Amino acid sequence: TSNVVVAIDGPSGSGKSSTSRGVASRLGLRYLDTGAMFRAMTWFMLRDGVDVLDAQAVAARVNAPLIESGTNPDHPTISVDGRDVATAIRERGVTNAVSPVSAVPEVRARLLELQRSVIGEGGIVVEGRDIGSVVWPQAAVKVYLTADADARATRRAAEEGGSDVTATQASLLARDEIDSGRATAPLTMAEGAHHIDTTPYTLDEVISQVVALVAEAT
Ligand code: C5P
Repeated sequence: TSNVVVAIDGPSGSGKSSTSRGVASRLGLRYLDTGAMFRAMTWFMLRDGVDVLDAQAVAARVNAPLIESGTNPDHPTISVDGRDVATAIRERGVTNAVSPVSAVPEVRARLLELQRSVIGEGGIVVEGRDIGSVVWPQAAVKVYLTADADARATRRAAEEGGSDVTATQASLLARDEIDSGRATAPLTMAEGAHHIDTTPYTLDEVISQVVALVAEAT
């Protein structure tokens, strides 16, 4: 399993992060959260005063930030120009702006390059929206995680420290719609992906299912 690449895609709140970190931790693999990279890019644009709805203005700045991701599943880190943004990228302003920024082709091209360089020789669990379809289609294991909209909103609201479930659900569904409808690398189930609907399972059960898929494939 040492060089394996495990691609985990799915909509917001489907359990991708907890599952991916758990699988990486159990198997001694590295972990990459590509959503955090898109959030870091968005954080940079907002801080720089770029109008995030102006795709040309966003495209003009994509090469400006130095975005670095730490790949330890037990302590994932993300920084922009040396500044730790792990907390800042989860704030509502970034969450609301990340889908339009992520739809800009130049943003995707820049981060694709970074993602592939981190994946490198493999030995990593990578989570996102387009890992199995675009970033690493040759991944040995591809998983597409989903969950009921209610379950996703409840989980995400709890993660956010008890924010309003109805508002969280509206925000998740709005992001899903933009992520699934964009022209470049939309959210989709990749060819050869194993679909797991996590609604009826505990986190540990989902992790075990993915670990079993990795064992089968390697
Ligand atoms: O996974 P997370 O919810 O943190 O991702 C934030 C946003 O980043 C998504 O809503 C999506 O717009 C974008 N994203 C993407 N491609 C990826 C990962 C995330 O477009 N591979």
